[in-house]
Amino acid sequence: MNVYTMEELFKKAGEAARAAYAPYSKFRVGAALACEDGTIFSGCNVENRSFGLTICAERNAVFQAVAAGRRRFAALAIATPDSAEPVGPCGACRQVLSEFMAEDAPVRFGGSGPRRVDATIGELLPHDSLHDLADSASH
Ligand code: THU
Repeated sequence: MNVYTMEELFKKAGEAARAAYAPYSKFRVGAALACEDGTIFSGCNVENRSFGLTICAERNAVFQAVAAGRRRFAALAIATPDSAEPVGPCGACRQVLSEFMAEDAPVRFGGSGPRRVDATIGELLPHDSLHDLADSASH
């Protein structure tokens, strides 16, 4: 059920970025994830002084949604207000997103400037060799 536009979802991602904890990179990221039931979960990046423990905004949103009982996501928007140009999700996040999103699910990302990139999960993670394995997962 889509009760939002991709630009509204992108606006929510921008709001989520305000909560980012990014004192090391000074690069805030916000993500807004629309579930198939119409609810929206947000996430921001949370860094750590042990840098490898940092979690990206996208995975933060996915994990919050899964912890709240959602497993099917219809769309995602990502905002990077500290860059003028759009910055797409990292490789690790693409893999995690593809676990819970259909190949044709839309993703919009943008920075502080006017340009937006619209892609699908399948375009962001092509030739997903583990896709069939996920199809058989039931737990
Ligand atoms: N970051 C995200 O939150 N999502 C991405 O897809 C790319 C990177 C965060 C991690 C780190 O806190 C900062 O951006 C710089 O890499």
